[in-house]
Amino acid sequence: MSKPSILIVEDETIVANDIKDILETAEYNVSGVVFSGEQAIKHIEENVPDLVLMDIKLSGRVDGIDAAKRISNSCDIPIVYLTAYGDKETLTRVKDTSVFGYVLKPFNETELSAVIEVAFCRYKTYKMLKEENDKLEKIVFTKTRELSEMKEKVEHANCLSRVGTLVSTVAHELKNPVAVMKVALYGIKNDTKRIFFERDISTINTKVWEIEEIIKNLSNYSKARKSVFRNIAVMDFVKECVSQCEEQYCRDDVNVGIEQDSKSDKIIEADAVGMMELIFNILNNAYQSFGEREGEIRIRIDFDEGKNLITLIFSDNGEGIDNNSLSKVFEPFFTLKPKGIGLGLSVCKQIVKLHGGSIDIESEKGKGTKVSVNLPIRQSLSK
Ligand SMILES: Nc1ncnc2c1ncn2[C@@H]1O[C@H](COP(=O)(O)OP(=O)(O)OP(=O)(O)O)[C@@H](O)[C@H]1O
Ligand SMILES: [Mg+2]
Repeated sequence: MSKPSILIVEDETIVANDIKDILETAEYNVSGVVFSGEQAIKHIEENVPDLVLMDIKLSGRVDGIDAAKRISNSCDIPIVYLTAYGDKETLTRVKDTSVFGYVLKPFNETELSAVIEVAFCRYKTYKMLKEENDKLEKIVFTKTRELSEMKEKVEHANCLSRVGTLVSTVAHELKNPVAVMKVALYGIKNDTKRIFFERDISTINTKVWEIEEIIKNLSNYSKARKSVFRNIAVMDFVKECVSQCEEQYCRDDVNVGIEQDSKSDKIIEADAVGMMELIFNILNNAYQSFGEREGEIRIRIDFDEGKNLITLIFSDNGEGIDNNSLSKVFEPFFTLKPKGIGLGLSVCKQIVKLHGGSIDIESEKGKGTKVSVNLPIRQSLSK
């Protein structure tokens, strides 16, 4: 193996020659002796040594530290400084360069050889670490790219599967009422004595309402409908929605009560169709949570004067939601119902957001659910 080559950068000739002797005795190959920073840079451009011994205070415009910085920018070789100055400022400047050793003058042969040996060892370790680091960086880069490609594929697959789910659920949801309407129409056609006429008409009416609900939710979800804002008297509006819902469900075993105080009888500027959807979706969920059992729905309307907010709180004593599912109920297509689409609450969230408000849900499995809707009102509109 060839002997390691060392460049000596030292502007005092006697010291430079002493160092040369020491290195040659220690069996190093002296690749050159130069007296200034400029000469050192030029020498390295033509002949790259294995190590540079660099004096810090040099005659000329470039001192040892600046020369070392420029050398480090063009090639990766260890630098050992020689200096009579161990002050803090010099040390701070030295730390910014690729320093592998530091020898304070005056030094003897053993000290210099020891520092050079340690510098070669450190450099070897540094090279190994650098290679490992480069390998790791490459692996991280490749893995990151693979992961982002995979993420894109998963998102695409999710999107396709959501569209698939939507299409099959909507088809399934529509098939049901259409089949029931067909039976009812058949009944009307063949029921010449009109015994079941009222019942069949009422069935068709209910199923048309169901289909309308599905279409409204889908249009709201896809934002196909344009919102029209107008003034709405909250109390009367909620009452109207409740009476329509009661008419549709027509259940004596479900009691719906509205509580309010006179302060909360406010007017808000809202999109009436959207607000109706919001209230219907929440009430539908409450009705559906009772199954065949009897139940109670309470609607509280509060006005927070400080925040200028109307709060609608819908509480039911239905089946409730388990903790795991509760965090997902606002996600589109999340449903626990065999025939649900899972758009009701995500549509509610969009509608509330459109009105600058917020919606929260609390629930306890087996006990019931509470949905709170906060809607801001503009001062000029409040009664
Ligand atoms: N009041 C409630 N009581 C019990 N569970 C509820 C209540 N409200 C919502 N949930 C649960 O949250 C899920 C999501 O509700 P969401 O209204 O978004 O969809 P869905 O009712 O399943 O279907 P869709 O409303 O689109 O017909 C429901 O499947 C149900 O499990
Ligand atoms: Mg629903």
